[in-house]
Amino acid sequence: MKKTFLMTAFACALLSACSNSDKLIYKDANAPIEDRVEDLLGRMTLEEKIYQISQQCLGENDNINNNEGMNPVPLNPMIGSVIFMSEDIQVRNAFQKKAMEETRLGIPVIYGYDVIHGYRTVYPIPLAMACSWDPSLLEACTKVAAQEARQAGVDWVFAPMIDVAHDARWGRIAEGSGEDPYTAAQFAVAAVKGFQGDNLASYKQVASCLKHFVGYGASEAGRDYVYSEISDQTLWDTYLPPYETAVKAGAQTLMSAFNDISGVPASANSYTMNTVLRDMWGFDGFIVSDWGAVEQLVNQGNAANPAEAAVNALTAGVDMDMTDGVYIKNMEQLVADKKLDMKVIDEAVRRVLRVKFRLGLFENPYTPDVQEKDRILLASSKETALKAAEETMVLLKNTNSILPLEGVKRIALIGPMVKNLHDLLGSWLGHGHDEDVTTIQEAMDAAFPEATINYAQGCDFEGDDKAGFSEAVRAANASEVVVLCLGEKQAWSGENASRSTILLPQIQRDLLEAVAKTGKPVVLVLNNGRPLELSGMEPYTAAILEAWQPGISGGTPIAKVLNGSVNPSGKLCATFPYTSGQIPIYYNRRNPARPATQGFYQDVTVEPMYAFGYGLSYTTFEYGTLKLSAEKVAQNGKLKAEISVKNTGKRAGKETVHWYITDPACKITRPMKELRYFEKAELQPGETKVFTWEIDVQKDFSYVDSKGNHFVEPGDILVKVGDQEVKVVVE
Ligand code: BGC
Repeated sequence: MKKTFLMTAFACALLSACSNSDKLIYKDANAPIEDRVEDLLGRMTLEEKIYQISQQCLGENDNINNNEGMNPVPLNPMIGSVIFMSEDIQVRNAFQKKAMEETRLGIPVIYGYDVIHGYRTVYPIPLAMACSWDPSLLEACTKVAAQEARQAGVDWVFAPMIDVAHDARWGRIAEGSGEDPYTAAQFAVAAVKGFQGDNLASYKQVASCLKHFVGYGASEAGRDYVYSEISDQTLWDTYLPPYETAVKAGAQTLMSAFNDISGVPASANSYTMNTVLRDMWGFDGFIVSDWGAVEQLVNQGNAANPAEAAVNALTAGVDMDMTDGVYIKNMEQLVADKKLDMKVIDEAVRRVLRVKFRLGLFENPYTPDVQEKDRILLASSKETALKAAEETMVLLKNTNSILPLEGVKRIALIGPMVKNLHDLLGSWLGHGHDEDVTTIQEAMDAAFPEATINYAQGCDFEGDDKAGFSEAVRAANASEVVVLCLGEKQAWSGENASRSTILLPQIQRDLLEAVAKTGKPVVLVLNNGRPLELSGMEPYTAAILEAWQPGISGGTPIAKVLNGSVNPSGKLCATFPYTSGQIPIYYNRRNPARPATQGFYQDVTVEPMYAFGYGLSYTTFEYGTLKLSAEKVAQNGKLKAEISVKNTGKRAGKETVHWYITDPACKITRPMKELRYFEKAELQPGETKVFTWEIDVQKDFSYVDSKGNHFVEPGDILVKVGDQEVKVVVE
């Protein structure tokens, strides 16, 4: 019945459209995109426009944090977008067919999904990827993710997440690149390139979505969905830079965040979305709200009711309403009541259509039916994920070079993570399957074929059952070394996964103490989604390997580091404090008023336990003298910095040189040091490489004020690498 009606309506519309103009420009693949957009917009009714800027869900809800409010209005093929939670291409194509054939104008639906670190070939969590200091690895991984996603019917991924985070209690620190804006920007660009490539219409690329705009990482006390206190200065110098860089790299969409930015919620913030993003940066794609974020403006005290929330969000720049149906339920009336200007709706529709045309959805609305074996978990894709995972491993401690474990005949392999599959995948695991994961045990068996491996679980991740401790102690006693695998369950980080402390549960710490009491050296391997408080555990260890959540490669990169076939080269992109009480702690703090003698904690140091940029290798690197090509430079000048690094050890290894600057005196005070460039390179034993930074003063020495103006002040700038610094005078 409904179908007949729709078809009749469609036929009528086609007739009237054809009588209005001979040619349907929007269907002409050769017409310029802007002409197609205008043509289509001109044909749309208000109802069609409102559906076009709304998103609902298709498939079975797999998002544990959003289990309410799924499709509060019936799913209609006029909908602009769906979150595609199914893996079944036929489900997608069947719904797309309705949109194409049973609606008046036949506008394709755009299918979005959370592909945060892989669709099926799950690679390491983003926090780990940034510890690789090699954005090209992320570009390669996101390229794989794009291909798998698009060929499974996903046109648009809700990634990358590029929120700077200073608080490891916030579970979503796992999804970003850590605490530094420059690092986040470099990895954001890599992700945009990998996802989008240079032809969005290709069946191997997807549109990316920068999220969560903006300042979500500043959520108070690490709690999720809450207020964030962000001055305009901090907005500009800390939270906006990754977005600016990634928008300029061509990201097609953004997602508005859940947080309240100092009194104006991010999803009703005209300054960030209209003024900054569109007017200042020229962004022409669209913004989707986060899940229910429009309706939640009522909870946040920004709107009296959902209708007002719709007005506030749309006029502030939220083009598409994710899942809560607030636009669909209220907008027609709002227009009738003259509370919403049609021009604002038209502009939002325009932006959505533009991205659909760029994706080629009008020409190719359906996903070709390629067999799974030809599109997911390809051998080359798994290889890419493994290579990336190898470079994310951060060696935090290695007393007397106990690692790599060479010539060891008896290894105790203990802990709740040893046979685990699921938790190694990490949060937001896309359509990753547990059975794709290599366990630590399997990987250790393969990596140490000559050794006897004595396994014991010891305990669970939490709880107080110590019944397994005695078996763990026996395994330790029967071995030369203990490899103890502890960490966090996958749902302990990610969305809605805040913790008041970043300590591992007591039972895991007790297990460490119990096995260490045997006197056997303990190599602690950690899989987790946030920096941890390790000061109480470190004394019981001989070595610590921070292995994060590596995705499907699971235990393989870990075992390869332990047996020495991979030389660890990861360095931290987020600070590890001694205690949770030091949070927020991050390297690029501003100077205190009494730095040398006062202002410290009375009970604990103010220094981090493992600093940003820290990470050991199995080889040693000797740095030469830092040199600059000039002592003075003009404000619009250029300069070269260089430093030689020699591999003085016996193994090949990769080293990352981090280039920082300090501006000791500026009208707007600047951080003690700021990362402005980094480079990673492999050096053979005995090899020396000169690392070079080509400095463009306007770009690399400049700073931003609270209105977004970039400026360079005359005066001293210190260029820093490690503990060396050289002064240059900017004239
Ligand atoms: C999350 C987003 C995610 C969206 C869609 C929200 O709850 O905050 O990051 O993209 O759900 O699943």
